[in-house]
Amino acid sequence: MAPELTRGEFLAQSGKTCLTLAAGGLLVLGCARIQSVDVEKTRPPDSPPNYLCKESEVSPAYYFRKGRLRGVLVRTKDRIKGYRNVCTHLGGPNRLEGDALRCLWHGARFSPETGAVLRGSARRPLPALNLELRDGLVLLAQA
Ligand code: FES
Repeated sequence: MAPELTRGEFLAQSGKTCLTLAAGGLLVLGCARIQSVDVEKTRPPDSPPNYLCKESEVSPAYYFRKGRLRGVLVRTKDRIKGYRNVCTHLGGPNRLEGDALRCLWHGARFSPETGAVLRGSARRPLPALNLELRDGLVLLAQA
């Protein structure tokens, strides 16, 4: 037979359980990150200021940070597409898995071709980036 708890002991134990679950949840979210390249640290010295990467590095995806912009470049059938890598549901990161960009937080899936929602909690497409391909480089086009 289990020992009886006083009201205070029960509340203290419940509080510890809640903190443990919350910490576990934060740990899971913290792990759901994607390694991304800091463009400003890796760009060649003679590259233009809107440089993102070499075309050959998009194979099949390239995750980057440029200032506050977090992006993903994907090689589709006939071109390279780019999106802000922030899920339109609650802001999770997306990773290319098979033929979809999948949000690591709640599993929404987006089309690499268009950014459209294929499945899941998100309702809006991933915002597309304007890209310019020049001399084997992927550049962020001026808006
Ligand atoms: S944050 Fe991406 S599906 Fe929820």
